[in-house]
Amino acid sequence: MRRTIRFTVNGDPVEVEVQPHWPLLRVLRDELELTGAKMGCGEGECGACTVLVDGKPINSCIYPVLEAEGKQVLTIEGLVSSENELHPIQQAFLDKAGVQCGFCTPGMIMSAKALLDMNPNPTEDEVRHALAGNFCRCTGYVQIVESVRHAAELLLKNAKQTGAGE
Ligand code: FES
Ligand code: FES
Repeated sequence: MRRTIRFTVNGDPVEVEVQPHWPLLRVLRDELELTGAKMGCGEGECGACTVLVDGKPINSCIYPVLEAEGKQVLTIEGLVSSENELHPIQQAFLDKAGVQCGFCTPGMIMSAKALLDMNPNPTEDEVRHALAGNFCRCTGYVQIVESVRHAAELLLKNAKQTGAGE
């Protein structure tokens, strides 16, 4: 039996009919047509489906959609600015070649966002720890860690410029 639930996705309120057993990823991809989060393992092991719920990274392939009721969900689509500019973390992944096939990238970037929101200037170890649940078959992780450290620099620079302009 379907149920109607309400939550916020990328700042927009949504109301959607769901089967109670559906995971959040299914609703994002199939009902809301937000296909940035990827279906990799489907078992909570690879991180390709990572999105933020109330600011925390979760594996949306195993996160029951009913638990999202009333919460704020942020997906990779929500990082692009209203002027269609890439988020500094996305730009950093391009600058430092943190993207190859791209399958892991949305999940990596969302995990990186959760880290940088909490810890704006992480060490390499802290980056590796935060991304430990996100698997990449292509890059060997070095470029991804560099991307996240570069993202931290870009965000700190932006914050200083904004502060200076106030
Ligand atoms: S697809 Fe969700 S953790 Fe792998
Ligand atoms: S870039 Fe291909 S899996 Fe990470």
